[in-house]
Amino acid sequence: MKDNYIVGVIGAGNMGEALIKGLLRSNLVRSYEILASARTQRRIRFLEKTYGVHTTRKNLSVVAACDTIILAVKPQDMENVCGEIRDKATKDHLIISIAAGIDFSKLRQMLGAKPRLIRVMPNLPAVIDAGVSAIYCGPRMPERYRRFAHQIFQAVGQTVDIREEKLMDVVTGLSGTGPAYFFAMMEALCSAGRKMGLTDGMSRMLTLQTALGAAEMAASNGASPEELRRRVTSKKGTTWAAMRHMKKRNFWRTMEEAVAVATKRARQLRTLKK
Ligand SMILES: NC(=O)c1ccc[n+]([C@@H]2O[C@H](COP(=O)([O-])OP(=O)(O)OC[C@H]3O[C@@H](n4cnc5c(N)ncnc54)[C@H](OP(=O)(O)O)[C@@H]3O)[C@@H](O)[C@H]2O)c1
Repeated sequence: MKDNYIVGVIGAGNMGEALIKGLLRSNLVRSYEILASARTQRRIRFLEKTYGVHTTRKNLSVVAACDTIILAVKPQDMENVCGEIRDKATKDHLIISIAAGIDFSKLRQMLGAKPRLIRVMPNLPAVIDAGVSAIYCGPRMPERYRRFAHQIFQAVGQTVDIREEKLMDVVTGLSGTGPAYFFAMMEALCSAGRKMGLTDGMSRMLTLQTALGAAEMAASNGASPEELRRRVTSKKGTTWAAMRHMKKRNFWRTMEEAVAVATKRARQLRTLKK
């Protein structure tokens, strides 16, 4: 280990910050063991003041001081950042990329043959420690690095192992993009309530509590979502009428297509230029 830093975060934006917050709360590392880089002095000051972590505007300083580095910049900034750190990345580095769509072969091309690489696809609820992160390590990753990656991302929610790299794009289309599917659905329900006479506040409260209740039921119950839906759908009742309409309007197919389109977009991000 170098200079006592355990984890470096390059590009401490929304996700980078969520990870810093989670790592500190989980006590996996202490604030003085994190070195984060950001582009602006304003961001640097914010990170120092809020989390007490060490900061730098030089990405190379992170590479020089840390063995484990989380790359948390946008996919379109990856080329620049990787080009900047490539020459200093050694076989002792573990580089964890959370960039959507950027696969191992692209990472290798950008970072060279030396560092160990892990890909992770987290999602937005990581900011409240309720995220889910899919972790892909590739075939020859020593177990202790895989375990360390899980520990890092368990600080902001749950983790799963992905064995086939091509499935990382599917994860991106499902859980990486997924919070927005539920936000869109909540948005539509709020709007329906308002249009039919409920106040904005009432509509929102009813929608959010229903979403929370349904998610908690689905998570705590052994039954599948399909089974839960069947149980609340009595023939000729209100749910039955609503489900029949949703089926007629291809709700299920629309959702499946949305995941497929997001998955395809993740693949396209590999070749995205800034
Ligand atoms: N947000 C999500 O829900 C989500 C989910 C899964 C995966 N991801 C992945 O997580 C990554 C980050 O997403 P995000 O939402 O956290 O984006 P973000 O908030 O924009 O964070 C990226 C950060 O990187 C900084 N940055 C850009 N170029 C840099 C450079 N050359 N050196 C150092 N820092 C640099 C940006 O600074 P400036 O603001 O000054 O440009 C920004 O603070 C993306 O690759 C994304 O695919 C995000």
